[in-house]
Amino acid sequence: MRTDNYANKGRILIVDDTPHNIEVLYDILSPDGYELSSAADGETGLQRARADKPDLVLLDLVLPGMMGIEVLEVLKQEQPQTTVILTTAYGSEETAIQAMRRGVNDYIINKRPFDPGEVREVVRSAIAESRLRQENFRLTHELELVNQQLQEYAGHLERNIDELRSANERLKELDRMKASFFSMISHELRHPLTVAKGYLELIETGSGGEVTTEMRRYLRIINDNFDHLAEMIDDLLDLSRMEAGRYHITRQAVRPSGIINHTIQAFAASAKEKEIQLETELPDSLPLVSADPLRVVQVLTNLLQNAIKFTPSGGSITVSACESGPEVQFCVADTGIGIPPAELERIFDRFYQVRRDDSNLGGAGLGLAISKEIIRLHGGRIWAESVEGKGSRFYFALPRAVEEQSP
Ligand SMILES: Nc1ncnc2c1ncn2[C@@H]1O[C@H](COP(=O)(O)OP(=O)(O)OP(=O)(O)O)[C@@H](O)[C@H]1O
Ligand SMILES: [Mg+2]
Repeated sequence: MRTDNYANKGRILIVDDTPHNIEVLYDILSPDGYELSSAADGETGLQRARADKPDLVLLDLVLPGMMGIEVLEVLKQEQPQTTVILTTAYGSEETAIQAMRRGVNDYIINKRPFDPGEVREVVRSAIAESRLRQENFRLTHELELVNQQLQEYAGHLERNIDELRSANERLKELDRMKASFFSMISHELRHPLTVAKGYLELIETGSGGEVTTEMRRYLRIINDNFDHLAEMIDDLLDLSRMEAGRYHITRQAVRPSGIINHTIQAFAASAKEKEIQLETELPDSLPLVSADPLRVVQVLTNLLQNAIKFTPSGGSITVSACESGPEVQFCVADTGIGIPPAELERIFDRFYQVRRDDSNLGGAGLGLAISKEIIRLHGGRIWAESVEGKGSRFYFALPRAVEEQSP
């Protein structure tokens, strides 16, 4: 609604049938910088008003043809924002009241001549008021537009929220289906594997006839692969139990060195085969930890499997433990290929494996994710440090069980 009216002091239309009155008003108002125009009768006045959109109309009440009051009525209907001031010598109470009812804004009595001071003052304040009204009108209009837009946005938002809500429901349902499918399929896979392993054992022991050395070698390879498959299925089963909140631990006071020595035995052969030196570094005494021994063996096993997998021949792996405040810290250190710093956090995510162009070392990327969850269930922490090309150190800390020291 902002018009070029704002560039000048204001646009005034004088509607008066007496040329002398118009002249006088021009003389009084021109010096104040208003943009003035005039009309000698009501019809012309209305046409000019429609074309010029004045801020203010000085309207003579007594006009030839259309009366001032009628002009006022049409004006107020067509341009409600326009300020109208009546000018007349015949100001009676009756016409004044009529005019006020029709929305006239002010009244100047032509005392023949006009009182210049009064005219200027009334016009000045009427213009100021008119501008305020226009500004108000503009702001209200803008506010309405903004309000309308806001309502549209709110509508969009509500629809989006509804869509998100139902998408979320669908995802939850899919997640439930995935979890139960996982669990079901893992069980189903485990069973035939157990049966097959049983028959393999029968063949190996000679129950099915004579077994040559070559056959025995093949049978061992089949057996190793069955074991590997069984491990992966167990990992998937663990994961589905963890997701369903059905993975539990049973704590007891456990000797850290006992767990380490027990676990490490299982790796002696594979370390030797790969020409990797495997050793422990244990202090004379360590506090007991409050833990589920089978689960801690599982974590150490995962870390040692990785260490052997990612350390080239000729390297070494050291398993150690030390007391650290209210915890015991375990460490599996290797001199292997290492992990890029940016991936140190992510390797604990499910199915995450560091991309390496050169080789595919197998695995599903589950060992560390499961280990992390096991340690979390113990109220402990697990983390890794690594220098690429030099080696990695995997730590986990478990809470101490009692004050008592153990060898
Ligand atoms: N000692 C290590 N040295 C170098 N990289 C490692 C080491 N341990 C883990 N990583 C990296 O972290 C990734 C994730 O390890 P994680 O044990 O979770 O999975 P995986 O060994 O690939 O498969 P899975 O354990 O399921 O058989 C590995 O694929 C490897 O990229
Ligand atoms: Mg692993």
